[in-house]
Amino acid sequence: MARRPMMAANWKMNKLVGEAREYIEQLLPRIEDAGGADIAVFVPFTALNEVARMTRDTPIVAGAQNFYYEDSGAFTGEVSAPMLLDIGAGAVVVGHSERREVFGETDEMVARKAVRAVSAGLLPVVCVGETKEERDSGGMWEKVSGQIRAVFDHLGDETSGGDIVFAYEPIWAIGTGDTATPEDAQDATGKIRGLLEEVRGEDFAGAVRILYGGSVKPENVGEIMAQEDVDGGLVGGASLKAESFAELVNAASNAKSG
Ligand code: 13P
Repeated sequence: MARRPMMAANWKMNKLVGEAREYIEQLLPRIEDAGGADIAVFVPFTALNEVARMTRDTPIVAGAQNFYYEDSGAFTGEVSAPMLLDIGAGAVVVGHSERREVFGETDEMVARKAVRAVSAGLLPVVCVGETKEERDSGGMWEKVSGQIRAVFDHLGDETSGGDIVFAYEPIWAIGTGDTATPEDAQDATGKIRGLLEEVRGEDFAGAVRILYGGSVKPENVGEIMAQEDVDGGLVGGASLKAESFAELVNAASNAKSG
């Protein structure tokens, strides 16, 4: 099944509102010919309102980097799905390794967030990936498969493959310049698709987009996108400049055509 490529920027904790505005102004004219890919920009909460406003009626989807799965109540400091929808967000990153490692998010919390995002009509990009130690000790697949199985322990059967995106982000490749080889990226994303098929069947697995994340940049995006089970990228550092993110978007748009 043909899956539409997706290129996603994760700004992490970067950019003031004025910088966000300038970035979107620079990005929009540079992606005019990128009709072959979905484009998402995951921005800090403080910039989300403005980015969502500026990207309305454009091919760019504005997204949050996190949210909480309850809709309202005594959860100081948290933001809910209805709040994100209210300001025009269309997607959300769930379970980024920095949330898991720095803020203690568990597989269970990540699964609840993924489920709530889907039911709210927000596209979740669910991040999974292993540490260097886990990879070196042969525990990569145990970690990654456990993270994914936890999501399917909670996700209802009515969910279709197009409602959820996974991002394989090996922690050792994030922000290190130490990109996974294209073969490593294919190995992991292929295994993930195999697991999706096991838990939800072929049609579901064939429709889910699986992104690769970890030191993606214009110089390596082509060989990563060329892998059969890699449907796009989730990009930190190289997404912070509109010019370089636009190159990645255009590469994704061209990668799977023909
Ligand atoms: P880098 O592209 O900076 O390695 O970050 C990857 C990432 O964590 C995207 O979510």
